[in-house]
Formats: sequence, C-alpha cells, structure tokens
Amino acid sequence: MKEIRIFVPASVANVSCGFDVLGFCLAPVGDEMVIRKSSEPGIRITKIEGQDLPMEVDNNVAGVAAKALLEAYETAVGFEIEIYKHIKPGSGIGSSAASAAGAVYGINKLLGEPFDPKSLIRFAMQGEKLASGSPHADNVAPVLLGGFTLVRCSDGPDVIKLPVPDELVATVVHPKIELKTAHARSVLKQQISLKDAISQWGNLAGLVSGLYENDYDRISRCLVDKIVEPSRALLIPAFSELKEAAAEVGALGCGISGSGPSVYALSRGMTTAEEVAQKFSEVLSGIDISFETHISPINTVGIRILEEK
Ligand code: HSE
Repeated sequence: MKEIRIFVPASVANVSCGFDVLGFCLAPVGDEMVIRKSSEPGIRITKIEGQDLPMEVDNNVAGVAAKALLEAYETAVGFEIEIYKHIKPGSGIGSSAASAAGAVYGINKLLGEPFDPKSLIRFAMQGEKLASGSPHADNVAPVLLGGFTLVRCSDGPDVIKLPVPDELVATVVHPKIELKTAHARSVLKQQISLKDAISQWGNLAGLVSGLYENDYDRISRCLVDKIVEPSRALLIPAFSELKEAAAEVGALGCGISGSGPSVYALSRGMTTAEEVAQKFSEVLSGIDISFETHISPINTVGIRILEEK
C-alpha cells in the first residue's frame, strides 16, 4: 500500500465529570486526510484545504504527531500528508486531535502497523501539546480507539476503552465563536475544594459504572461537573439556557464539549436527541448567534479507511 485516504471523526472530551480523562467519538462530522509514502525521508504537509493552518511540519499538529511516530520507528522513511478540514479549529469538538490522530493512524497503516492503536496515542498527544500547551489524550484516545474512552493516566498513557450503551445519542451545537483551548485552560482554578473533588470522583466512577451496566438513570445523575464547567460557562453564549433547554426535553445530561464553545447533550434515543437539537437552535436563534448542530450515535469504530492504493 502506497497511499491511504481516511475519515477522521470529531470527538467530545471531558463529558462533564471527566476533565482531561473522558471522551467519545462522533460519527457524522470529521476531516479527511490522505497519507502517501514518499521516497524522501521525513514528513511533508503537501496540502491543507478548508482552513488556514500552518504547512510547516513543526507548527502543524499532524506534522508534530507524525514526527513523534517516525522518531520511535527509528528507520528512515518518508510521508506526505494532505488535510481536508471540516472540523473548525477552536470549536470544541477535537479539531487538532483529529489531525494528529489521523496522521499517526495513516502512517502506521502504511508502515504495516508496527504500533498497536493504544501506542499511537502518545504520538498524537504531541499534536495536542503543540495546539494547547498540554499533552492531554481525552480527544485523541476515542478517535484512535473508537467509542468512549478513559485516560486513567496520561503517562504511558494508560487508556481504557469503555462500553457504549446502544441507545446513547449525542447532540452537539457549535455556537460560531472561536475559543482556543489554551485560553479555556487559562481560566481554570488551580486549586479545588475537597468537597468538589469528592463530588467529581463520585460522578466519574458512577458514570463509568453506568456505561458498563447500561444504566441510563445513573449516567444521567453523573453528568455533572462541579470543577471546570463553572469557570468555562462564562465563555459560552447562553450556556445555562442551553443546559436548561436540554433538561426540559429529557436529555440525560448536558455540558461543555471539550474546552468549548460547543455544547453537548447525551440522550437516550434519537427522538430525544432531535428534540434537544431543536431546543438548542431555538435558544441560539433567540440571541442571534449563528451555529451548527450535529446529532450522532457514539461512533464505536473511530477512524474509517475510505480508500487504499
Ligand atoms: N480536556 C481538554 C480541555 C479538551 O478541556 O482543555 C480540549 O482539547
């Protein structure tokens, strides 16, 4: 195989109580990437369409992630990368994660899969570090493994793929303002109370157990964030109205998608997810802000191969 074209999905990180550790993968929205073997050793970004992003390898999240993989591979090989962006940077649904994860996934395939999917996470994290200053894995892990993932520890990293209850459907709304992850991280408190920590780890453990036991009521009770959401909510237009609207039509829970400004809700079943989307549009139309909405079951596959040559 000399060339691979892939679809790389968007993702929702944090999932309320799981700041920097939980994430899930979406189905309908994502980038396309083409990775091609080259006789010239090293990485080159040869095309970017859809967004104005740096072509220089060391300033591009895909380039940096790809270089990290090649360093670990320790043999002189070369690749060209084309990126067709559909996920807007600064939207909160894992734009940088998609580029970084897609690059390492494609190169690994063309090399005959010397690395298993979990080992690719640490390379993709280097792209996240370039994008936000922090090498978190909560977006790249679900993109590379599919489904819902838990980053138990980012050293290594130690990542666990979680089960996905069949009827879980996500609604994501992107109010069209750009919010950089680095900024959304800079507003966070560096110290938290023991009371809030206890509440958060109770909810995180409860949510994980709810996923294992298909317990939608428990999942709903646990989609709470006492620590990060209060600081970031102020950066998102009509956040509390969006949350109230999702609750009104029976969503299991609603919170900030990644570092925002996108807002996600999880529902049991498509009908409720569609009602949430309708409510989200009413709220944002009411304050005259443009937005985009996605409704998606949890994508348990992750990256999809579109063409191989
Ligand atoms: N966990 C990260 C954050 C996800 O919330 O800052 C955004 O990339």
